[in-house]
Formats: sequence, C-alpha cells, structure tokens
Amino acid sequence: MNNLSDFQLKSPEAFQEAYRNSIDNSSEFWAEIASTFQWHKPWKEVLKYDWSIPSTEWFVEGKLNITVNCLDRHVNVHPEKEALIWEPNDPNDTVQRYTYKSLLAAVCRFANGLKNQGIKKGDRVCIYMPMIPELTIAVLACARIGAVHSVVFAGFSSTALATRINDAGCALLITADGAFRGDKKISLKAIADEALNECDTVKKCIVFQRTFQSVEWDNRKDIWWHDFIDGLSENCAPTIMDAEDPLFILYTSGSTGKPKGMVHTCGGYMVYTAYTFMNVFQYQPNDIYWCTADIGWITGHSYMVYGPLACGATSVHFEGVPSYPKWNRFWEICEKHKVTQFYTAPTAIRALAKHPTKLIEDYDLSALKVLGSVGEPINDEAWNWYDTHIGKNKVPIVDTWWQTETGGILISSLAGVTDQKPTFATQPLPGIQVALVDEKGRPIFEKEAEGILTINYPWPGIARTIYGDHQRYKEVYFSAFEGRYFPGDGALRDADGNYRITGRVDDVVIVSGHNLGTAPIENAINEHAAVVESAVVGYPHDVKGNALMAYVILYDTVSYTPSLYEEIRKEVAVQIGPIAKPDRILFVSGLPKTRSGKIMRRILRKLAAGEADQLGDISTLLNPEIVEEIIVGLAKE
Ligand code: WT7
Repeated sequence: MNNLSDFQLKSPEAFQEAYRNSIDNSSEFWAEIASTFQWHKPWKEVLKYDWSIPSTEWFVEGKLNITVNCLDRHVNVHPEKEALIWEPNDPNDTVQRYTYKSLLAAVCRFANGLKNQGIKKGDRVCIYMPMIPELTIAVLACARIGAVHSVVFAGFSSTALATRINDAGCALLITADGAFRGDKKISLKAIADEALNECDTVKKCIVFQRTFQSVEWDNRKDIWWHDFIDGLSENCAPTIMDAEDPLFILYTSGSTGKPKGMVHTCGGYMVYTAYTFMNVFQYQPNDIYWCTADIGWITGHSYMVYGPLACGATSVHFEGVPSYPKWNRFWEICEKHKVTQFYTAPTAIRALAKHPTKLIEDYDLSALKVLGSVGEPINDEAWNWYDTHIGKNKVPIVDTWWQTETGGILISSLAGVTDQKPTFATQPLPGIQVALVDEKGRPIFEKEAEGILTINYPWPGIARTIYGDHQRYKEVYFSAFEGRYFPGDGALRDADGNYRITGRVDDVVIVSGHNLGTAPIENAINEHAAVVESAVVGYPHDVKGNALMAYVILYDTVSYTPSLYEEIRKEVAVQIGPIAKPDRILFVSGLPKTRSGKIMRRILRKLAAGEADQLGDISTLLNPEIVEEIIVGLAKE
C-alpha cells in the first residue's frame, strides 16, 4: 500500500466500489488516498465543514509543501524522468525538456530570487506570462516558499490585469517582454507597464526575455529574469504550509461586478487534482500527456501543473495555437512526442473540424489512448468528429465537467473503464454527491430528469472562499439552495444516472470555453461616451459554442455611425480583453424590462438566437413594443 497508483480504478466494479465507499466512509476514503502523499505532519481530522457559514477544511492541521509532492518526491525515485516537454510556438525552434531534477533546480533557483526580494509566505505574486516553461517555474517557485500565486491569462488587457493585481494586493509581478501567439507578437511588458501605473502594491517586476523586442525600462522596478536568478543556489528548503493555507488565487468572472478571486488551498487541492488526474485519464508511468490549455486558466493549474506533477507524469506544454503555421499543428505535435492522452476544448475541436481531414491523415496518431474534452458542453457533431478522425473510433473520450471553483473534475467517465456516452459528462467521480433540484430547490428523485445541478457534500478540491469577499462566496455558491453548492449549471439525467450538462442557468456565457460574465462586458460598453445602457447575451455559434451579442442604447444626442461598432468592441478589448468582444451589436432605443426594471435577458437571448417565435408571453413587460422594434432591427442585421 501507500502508492497513489494503488487507488487507480481499473474496472467498472472497482469504480462502483470506490464510489460507494467514498459516500459511506468519506473520511476514511480520502484519508487513505491522502496518506500516499508526503506530509510534514499528519492531519488531526480529515474533514471539518459547515456549509451554513460556509466553511470547508480538509486534512485539518496537516502540514506539507505541494512542491515536495510534485517534485522532490519524484526526484528521489526517477530524477531523470521528463516532467515537461515544451513545444515552442514556432516548430523550427528548439523543444525544451525539463526532467524532475532540472525542474526542481530551476524552481528552487527562482524561489531563492523571490526570497531575496523579501517575498514570504502569504504574499501574493501576480504572474502574467506566455506559455513558456518559466511560467510553470514561477508558479511552482511561489508554492515552494508559500507565496500565493495569482496567474492572469496573458490575453487579458492592462485594465483587467490591474484590477486583479489590486484586488489581491500583489507585491510582485512576473511577466515577459513579449509573447508569441501564432504569427502575432504581443507586447506583454508594455501592457504590464500600463497596468502597473494603476497598482501601488507592486514593488518589483521580473521580466523574462522571450521575444527580445524592445521594452521600456524602469531601473527602480524592473529586473530581467536572468539577472534575478544569476548566481543563485539550486536548493531551496520548502516552506512548510498548513493544509488549509492558500496555494493560489485564480480569477473567474461572475454574473455581476468584478471578477471573483477563487482561493484554493494546499492539501485538499493537491490530493484531489492528483487523484482525478490519475483516474480520469488512466495515467500510466510511461505515458505522454498533453493538455492544450493555457496555465492562465484552471485547467492549466490543475491538469498541466499540479495534478500531473503530483503523479510524476510527463506532460507536453505548447506555447502556440492550433492554426500555426498550419491547421495540422496539433497532430504534428501528437506524432512527434507520441502523445498518449490528449485533452482539449470543444471550441478547438469545432475549429479543427472545419479543415480538411487530410491535415490529420498525414500523421501517426496511434499512440493516443485517451481523448479529453473540457470547458463547455461538447455537441454531437464535435464529439463524433473527435471520435472518428482523432480517435479512429477506438480511443475513449472523457467529457470532463468542472469549474475554476471546483479545483478538479467532478463529473466524467474514467477513460476506457466506465461507459462513455456522447455529449454526456456521465457520472460523478468518487466523493462527488450530485443532486438535481428544481427551481425551488426541491430535490428531483426521478432518475430521468432535467434540473439544476447541485453538489451536497464537500470534496477536497473545492475553492474555500473568494479572496477578500467571503460574503460574496456565500451568496453566489451557497445561498441559492440551502446546504448545497450551486455551480450555476443545468443538467439532464438519463435512466442510467448519466449527466449531460445543458449550460449555464445564470448570466455567465461560455465563449470558446472561456467563462465570461455579461455584467462586466456591459460595464465596459457603458464606458463609451455615446452609450446610455446595454445588455449582453450569448447565442449559439458553430465554432465558439456561444458568441456574444450586445444590445446598445445610444444617447439621443448622438447619431449612429458605422465606426461605433468597432469603437465599442475596442472598449471591451481594453477593459477586459479581446476574447470578450461581442460579435454582434444591435443599436436599439430600449431594452425589454420587467415592471421592476430588470432587463429580460431571456427574451434578448431568444431574439439573438433567431427564436423570435418562442418568446412566450411578453405582455407583462413594461415595454412590450420594444420587442417588435428589435425584431425589425435584427431582420436588417
Ligand atoms: C463552466 C466553468 C473546467 C475548466 C474550464 C472552464 C462549463 C466546463 C464542461 C463540460 C459542459 C462544461 C460549465 C461550467 N463547463 N466543462 N465538460 N461540459 N460544460 O472553467 O471557466 O470556471 O467555467 O464551464 O458551464 O460551469 P470555468
């Protein structure tokens, strides 16, 4: 006993048994799994929780450092095993490889740099970097010394970056001169400089030289990465953390107001990401696992950094995009590195499916054993294309449902072990107690049903709070239905207990797998001097899953000009980032509202989706006539 791999579920019966055990003996179940990790001091209690506060603690008073479990532990048994295979944006550039030993050395060296700057346990460090090995190194270096990392996706704007830095009160920023993304070069340092003008807490900015483009330089603040680590030791004692100490903050958008800084902690998160990684992907010691996400999202944190490394796995990290230099890049990389597990998003699958299959047939994908999907519901067509052209109808597909807030996968099949069902995420993993409820929160007991998804028992990976705003955490996740975690998704359950996620039931839209709240986008649009009010909704899009449509009311004093479309989109790109730009904008004289003044988004969604015939009764609106005006406007679009 005492290896995590002893807990790999290899048959449907083993899964059933583990599931039952995880419900009947939850604490023993997780204690056994957790005891396969390296703890500096054992926990006193497995789980302590009270969701009326809400509060959740796992492995109470246990002490550990997650990097010891992700690095040192493996260096002791297989120092030369590859941890990372880094594939650059340009296929002609050199692949970089980090063994567990060399990764640990690089992490320690950078961690020593952070210590020299006075960064200590509990300090927040913002990381705004391209998908290069140094991003992983920076993340783990923070964890090494107990600093809380806050990674901000490098596609976000300076305003979005500044908001996140200020919310967390970060003491330091780590960035790069620029980033390569396909044939584009992004001036990260310039964006970071602009953000830092608004951030008083950041004292130093560490800059990795990636593109060698020219940058503005402030000697008091800026330090090159290579100077920062020059001459530093490759040993750095791990800071011993409490299981419940924060490991990182990761921002996700909400349906209102500013982004929510989800706080994940050290112990439970480590145990949960490793356990789910090993089981969902059925990871074997010689596998080459590739997740195409960016570390700026939770998928990257849990299933590119912590989960795989905790399991001693070898991962491919890719700097570029699927279309560069050509739409065959993913398959070329799969063949080149003999990828065994490939984990991507439906939006990428749909974009790839638009191109000739010849681009796939040139490559040998026979090493593939598992295909994965994450980020949004995968539609039938995309599922079948993935299955036929990439899996050649013999590779299992795992459709993994989870969220930034859940830390790890909650609903998924286990690759090749439990049954898959196209477009269904299938069954909850061990430890996950799902209940469907109706709008009043009453549990739905019928097997075959549709309802709102809730989870009614803690799992180790759940985010513990929203940074600086526990009240909001309570309101958003624990107040809709008493005693239950409310993820904001609807679901359908079949007679076998398989779940299909039907989409968000709140004002969050998933665009290309990215979670975007409509409120912050509306706020950005309203910043434009010509705009009185706006409403943003999602509508179905064949590649992005959903795209955004904005209904915009202009001031009487301004007249419409075609340039307004781009100006408004630019406003959104500046405030939030290019991913949040609405595809369609309709200028209207009013918005459908209830008598209490609430915008009826349901109607706007139907109209944007071209379902004007399915509006239902609109007579209770304050201004039903506006609907007719919008229909006329849409016809001219
Ligand atoms: C929302 C969470 C999980 C990491 C990436 C997104 C949607 C996610 C699936 C799936 C259907 C899915 C949900 C969820 N979602 N995975 N397999 N099937 N929907 O993380 O940005 O926090 O977004 O993504 O609506 O609530 P996120």
